[in-house]
Amino acid sequence: MNVKAQKFFSHKAVTFLVSFFAALAPMLLWACRTTSFIFVDKVLFIGFSQLLFWLMVANAVFATVLAALRWRLPSWALQPPKWSAIAECVTMVLTAVFAIVGIAEIIGTGEGIGMAFREAAEMTPVFIAYFLVAVFAFFFPSVGNKKARIAILCIAAVLGAFGALFAIYPPVYYKFLSDPVVIDTGSDYSVVFATSAEGTGYVEYEYDGKTYKVYDESDGRINGTSTIHSVNIPYEHLNNNTYRVGSMRVFEVYAYGGRNGRTIESEDYSFASPSTEDMSVLCISDWHTRTKAAKQSIENIGEYGAVIMLGDAASCMDTEDLAAEYIVSFGGDITGGEIPVIFARGNHETRGAYAAELSEALGMDKFYYETSFGGYRLIVLDSAEDKTDDNVEFGGLADYSAYRYRMIDWFESLQATEQKTIVICHSPTIAVEEDIIDRAYAKMEELGASIVLSGHYHYCALEEDKWPLITYIDGGHGGGDFIASRVTFSSDGIDLYACNKSGEEVLHKQVSWDGTVTK
Ligand SMILES: [Fe+2]
Repeated sequence: MNVKAQKFFSHKAVTFLVSFFAALAPMLLWACRTTSFIFVDKVLFIGFSQLLFWLMVANAVFATVLAALRWRLPSWALQPPKWSAIAECVTMVLTAVFAIVGIAEIIGTGEGIGMAFREAAEMTPVFIAYFLVAVFAFFFPSVGNKKARIAILCIAAVLGAFGALFAIYPPVYYKFLSDPVVIDTGSDYSVVFATSAEGTGYVEYEYDGKTYKVYDESDGRINGTSTIHSVNIPYEHLNNNTYRVGSMRVFEVYAYGGRNGRTIESEDYSFASPSTEDMSVLCISDWHTRTKAAKQSIENIGEYGAVIMLGDAASCMDTEDLAAEYIVSFGGDITGGEIPVIFARGNHETRGAYAAELSEALGMDKFYYETSFGGYRLIVLDSAEDKTDDNVEFGGLADYSAYRYRMIDWFESLQATEQKTIVICHSPTIAVEEDIIDRAYAKMEELGASIVLSGHYHYCALEEDKWPLITYIDGGHGGGDFIASRVTFSSDGIDLYACNKSGEEVLHKQVSWDGTVTK
């Protein structure tokens, strides 16, 4: 076996390929570390998964050293010591296993695959640098053919030049990712839009004979380091008015000066808020990055004049890109920037490194608030997480219980009005604390709320008895299909209609304003 193995490993290309894949494996594992669920402890990249990562790194170094010995030392290649065949076999088997694990990780990340590829792309310079050092230190000196040496050097020089150029001017075409999404924050509108790279953001419109150009800024300093831009505009300035958005690309911000790119400006958007008593609202929940399936269902739902986004856009808010793609762009695509959106945070928007920045990025003061559409009172509650703060998934960074107590104090401070009232919350459970749940439903009764609109459970149903107040569970994605809902408010009551992406009706019921099912 040793003789056969020695012969096999005497091919320089074999040792080269083994070291290549041995170096690739830890890169793939690293790229998937935030979202993959293949290993139980993977979400925190601790314990077994981190041990596996360092084993992969060690294997990559070992495989490179063995390959280098083959390439650099002719005497070693001709008469290697006995242990070398065993070591090379072990490295090859480990490399095969690790490479399969790495590839399985990428495939197994599910909805996180886009993020894994982005992480892998960010890791590419590290991988290339490691590989080039190995190539030029160990392999290149052994290339005897002069033409081959010149060709390798030319390729390396061109790659190096493009690498340096792209590091200074990232090869990303600057554009809007979608139409804006206009979020009703409870005190104003937040016009939110995303660009393909970092830059500034502004909204331009005319109101009462005056031209306004309002920037995404803080205390006079324009924000130029985000891809999500939000500008808060008073309700009366935007209702039944036209506006456009613009953005200047910012490559770098210096202490004194900066390096900017081109400025882009959108078409004009005509914005209309529902003001009639009869109004239809699109409800969408739990799309978990399945925006294509969600849009297929929405195409079949009919006309709507506003949107309620009920949360769970992706498995987590790990990066700004996720929020840009699955909240801002998706919201822009389904509204065209011309009707308002109510955004209720899902429990998956409370996880990941970007979760703490989400409210500011969307121009929202809080995720619990109240507003009015067409005379109807809409109260948005934020269930935040569906687990207690000590759950391992939060990595010690959760203080949602105290947050929910602040929310319930605010909710209890609200006064009853003559308006017909609807409560919106990602999860109808409202909280994990029993006393908060009791207080929330007692307050809903006191305010005369008629129904709770929610999601979270990935099935579509009108629940009459499961919670103290009649509750509509919007469907979201499940089993490869997607269920979207159209909720129509009128003086007669609430009409609930849901369909899947084939346009088949899933549910159609009516509820009176006193909370009883009429049809
Ligand atoms: Fe959820």
